[in-house]
Amino acid sequence: MLAGEGVWEARNPAEQGAHSPASGRWLRRSRRRGRSGLARVAAGALVFVLGAGFIAAWTCWETRQVRLRSVEVPLPGLPRELDGLRILHLSDLHGRWVGRSHRRLFAALSGTRFDLVAVTGDLLDMHAGGMLPAIALIEGLVPRAPTYVVPGNHDRSRPEFRELMDALVALGAKVLINRGEELRVGPARIWVAGLDDATLGLDDLEAALRGRQARWCLLLSHCPAIFPQAAAMGVQLVLAGHTHGGQVRLPLVGAVWLPPGSGGFEGGLYCRDGHWLHVTVGLGTTLIPVRLLCRPELVLLVLRRQEPDR
Ligand SMILES: [Fe+2]
Repeated sequence: MLAGEGVWEARNPAEQGAHSPASGRWLRRSRRRGRSGLARVAAGALVFVLGAGFIAAWTCWETRQVRLRSVEVPLPGLPRELDGLRILHLSDLHGRWVGRSHRRLFAALSGTRFDLVAVTGDLLDMHAGGMLPAIALIEGLVPRAPTYVVPGNHDRSRPEFRELMDALVALGAKVLINRGEELRVGPARIWVAGLDDATLGLDDLEAALRGRQARWCLLLSHCPAIFPQAAAMGVQLVLAGHTHGGQVRLPLVGAVWLPPGSGGFEGGLYCRDGHWLHVTVGLGTTLIPVRLLCRPELVLLVLRRQEPDR
């Protein structure tokens, strides 16, 4: 239709004649806009690719790092003889080597003295890896201090579970599966108890505390969710792993996911009526071999006697 064509022509100056000064300006502006739009898209894509590459490289790098963190735990009623006791807490190796033959791990511990080692499960991984990293780790720790081990859900899921536990006992480690035993530290005594894995329903806290002779009790558990129950039963300090701190953490958000059995505890120290829980984010990874804002760690816990308020 002629009328329609007229309207169309009026809206498109380029079609009004190549020699019109107005249409020339419109064409130049239009081409400039097109070029700058394309440049913005290309720049955005480049920033996205570089950002994604940086984050991928960072997560792989972070997964290979290990740090030694020192934490003081204020404990009311801690016997004076135990003031200053140093516990090395580590967890969740997941069948990995931390450097060749654990060189990075033992370098991080170089020159550090500890009185007791607590290993809170998942030395093995249900998806990958073998027993050798776990055996080498325990072999390197046993000569330095009494070493206690409890199993995790990944250990329990592997056919080599029994073989590994037997190998650790042969190395001199104390494997605590729903049982406890007394440890003498100078004139003081501690009841060191350990639980089987709770995610599989194998834990038995009453059995672990049965026969408890020392008043002061340390409990090792793979899953931290047991803490409220253990505190109610008079356990002064619970050590746990399992959460990996979420493994991938986001600023202002924290852990993006926590496994069942975490009980809402991500990592670090928690207190309830003078009873304490320490959750380590562990050493290894599972499912996806990356960590973000959650570096692998060894933790040196230093117990401090807290004087009662007068
Ligand atoms: Fe784990």
